Amino acid sequence: MAELSPIDKAKFVAAKRAAEMVEDGMRVGLGTGSTAAWLVRCLGEMVREDGLKIRGVPTSTRTAELARDVGIEVISLDEARWLDMTIDGADEFDDELNLIKGGGGALLQEKIVATASDQMVVIADVGKQVETLGAFPLPVEVIPFGWQTTKALIEETLISMDVLGRQTSLRMNGGVPYITDEGNHILDLHLNRIGNARQLALVLNQMPGVVENGLFIDICDRVVIGYGDGRVEVRDINEGTVEQERLDFLEEDNLFSDLME
Ligand code: A5P
Repeated sequence: MAELSPIDKAKFVAAKRAAEMVEDGMRVGLGTGSTAAWLVRCLGEMVREDGLKIRGVPTSTRTAELARDVGIEVISLDEARWLDMTIDGADEFDDELNLIKGGGGALLQEKIVATASDQMVVIADVGKQVETLGAFPLPVEVIPFGWQTTKALIEETLISMDVLGRQTSLRMNGGVPYITDEGNHILDLHLNRIGNARQLALVLNQMPGVVENGLFIDICDRVVIGYGDGRVEVRDINEGTVEQERLDFLEEDNLFSDLME
């Protein structure tokens, strides 16, 4: 079995701990990205081996495909209407559990699904924790029509915002503009530091051409932070609690090798 890197171990233990929060009968929002992929595989294993009965609402075509592959029943958000829990990764989270998401380009469906959930649980390696959001470029989904005008408008608006950088770039994929699942483009905003994330999120979404931004404010309820040595920390922003434990993943070689295939 190939050895997992510390960062992958951290993502894995966070995902595994979050999977334990899922109960029979739940409708679960399934996030997108490498950490969320571990979660989907863990849940798939619980469905196949333990008979866990859940229905999953994926936040991207990638996640939908993986979820089906591992045996999770996939339904649309319109079929589910409301979800018990969404579990997803993040690019950054702060002490108030506000997030930057969209590094994987799925922020629009991710935000719709997380907002339609009783609880949102973020799973992340400890490297995603920041004091102030903004070192990770902020993804903003824009419609293709007039995207350069939208980009210029965003840059102009950033002058009056509490940010340290104002450079923006169109996300590319193999030499052509990246296209989201909804057929839109992504602008990445290199802000370095976002002083007032709540204000910026509101202002961005007021602009014509902007579909959604990657700031998740007051959406996340709990974060499960994974460490490379198997420790996990669960922070609950509503309860104000912090719990720490260690997941003994070394004893789970079978599960690991299944997941690595
Ligand atoms: C996907 O669009 C993102 O919001 C991801 O949740 C985020 O980029 C985290 O991805 P990783 O788990 O791969 O770091």
